[in-house]
Amino acid sequence: MLKLLTVVGARPQIIKASAISRVIATQYGDDMRDIMLHTGQHYDADMSEIFFRELGMPEPAYNLQVGSSSHARQTARMMEGIEEVLITEKPDILLVYGDTNSTLAGALAATKLKVPVAHVEAGLRSFRKSMPEEINRILTDQVSSYLFCPTDTAIGNLAKEGFPAPGAKGPYSADLPAVCKGGDVMFDNVLHFSSGANQANEAFFNDLDIIPGEYILATVHRDNNTNHPHRLNAIIKALLGIVEDEKRTVLLPVHPRMRKAIEDHLAPALGKALKSQPGLRIVPPVGYLDMIRLEAHARLIMTDSGGLQKEAFFFRKPCVVLRRETEWVELVACGNSKLADADEEAIRMAYEEMIQYQGAEFPDIFGNGHAAEFICQFLTDNPPATS
Ligand code: UD1
Ligand code: UDP
Repeated sequence: MLKLLTVVGARPQIIKASAISRVIATQYGDDMRDIMLHTGQHYDADMSEIFFRELGMPEPAYNLQVGSSSHARQTARMMEGIEEVLITEKPDILLVYGDTNSTLAGALAATKLKVPVAHVEAGLRSFRKSMPEEINRILTDQVSSYLFCPTDTAIGNLAKEGFPAPGAKGPYSADLPAVCKGGDVMFDNVLHFSSGANQANEAFFNDLDIIPGEYILATVHRDNNTNHPHRLNAIIKALLGIVEDEKRTVLLPVHPRMRKAIEDHLAPALGKALKSQPGLRIVPPVGYLDMIRLEAHARLIMTDSGGLQKEAFFFRKPCVVLRRETEWVELVACGNSKLADADEEAIRMAYEEMIQYQGAEFPDIFGNGHAAEFICQFLTDNPPATS
C-alpha cells in the first residue's frame, strides 16, 4: 500500500486534488492511501471549505492554519508544519500541485527528509522570474522525483532544462526523475462535473441578474495586477468601458486580494464610476460548481487566472488574458486565448476581436480526461525504491 501525503493550500489546489482523491477512493483504495494536509494558505470559507464540501472531499487530516503573511514567513511556517507531519506519517511520496507557496514548502520539506516528491502540473514556465509562481515551479521541479506534465510544451520546457525524456526507466529519484505527460487533472474535473454546468438554471442566472450567453465573466488576482495601481486601474477602466460602450454585463467574482486592491488602489474617480455602474457586477468568490456553470454560459472570459484560461478552452469560450505572457501557450497558438496584458487599449482591442471569435479549432492539448488515473497508475507501477 503506497502512502501519499498530499499538500494543498490555495483554492485551485483543493480543486485539483479532488480529481486524484476521487480516483483513489473509487479505483485505488487497495493500492494507495492518501493523507491530506492543508497549509491554510487560503482560509476564508469561500476560498477553501466550500471546495471540500461540494467536491465530496473529506476534511483534511491536518490543517496548519498558516494564514496570510510575507512570502518567506508564510513558506517557512508551512515548512515547519509539513516537516512535523512528514516525520509522524512517514509517507512514501509527497504529492504537490501547481506553483503556490504551499507547493514549494511541501517540496522543500519533503526532499530534505528524503521523501520523494511528485509534482502535478510540472514543467510549466512563464519565463518571468519576477512572478513568485515561476520561482515556486522551477524549484519544485528541481527536487521532484515524479514530474507529471499536463502538456507537450511542459515536457519540452523540462527537456530544455536537462530533465530526462519521458520513458526513462526507474527506479526514480530527484537525480533521475520520471517525466511524463498524463494530461491535466482540471480537464478530468470539468468532464466529471460538466453535465450540471451545462444545464442552464433560470433561477441561478436571474439571481445574478445576468443573461446566459451574453455576459462576460472576469477574474483578477495576480499580485502583478492587484499590487500595481496603474495596472489595476487600467483593467477596471477597460472593463467599465466595455460595460458602458458595448452594453455588456461583466460579472467579476473577486478574490480577496482583488477586493482589497479595489478598496486601496483604485483612483477615486474610477471608484466612484464603479459604484455607479451596475453593469460591472462585483460578487464574492463563487464555488467551483457555480464557477464552471458561469464559464459554460459566458459569452467571453477575461482573466489573469491560469485555471480559468484552461476552463475557458474546455467550455469553448474565447478568453482575453490579462497578462503579458502565459504558461498555456497552446491556447494562444490555437486562437482561443488572446494576451492583452493590463493595458486599457489592448484589452479593448482584444475584446473586439474575441467577442467575434467562433472557435474554429479545439486541438487535444490536455489529455483524455483521465489524468488522475494515469498518475495513480504510474505511482503504483513505479513506487519509490525504498517503499
Ligand atoms: C495564491 C498563489 C497563486 C494562485 C492563487 C490562487 C502564491 C505565491 N500565490 O495567490 O499562485 O494563483 O493563490 O487563488 O502562492 N486572502 C484572504 N483570504 C484568504 C486567502 C487570501 O483574505 O482565504 C488575502 C490576504 O490578504 C492575502 C492575499 O489574499 O494576503 C493573498 O493571498 P495569498 O495566498 O498570499 O496569495 P494569492 O494571491 O491568493
Ligand atoms: N474558481 C472558483 N471560484 C471563483 C474563482 C475561481 O471556483 O470565484 C475556480 C476556477 O473554476 C478554477 C480555479 O478556481 O478551477 C482557479 O483558481 P484561481 O483563479 O484562484 O488560481 P490559478 O488557477 O490562477 O492559480
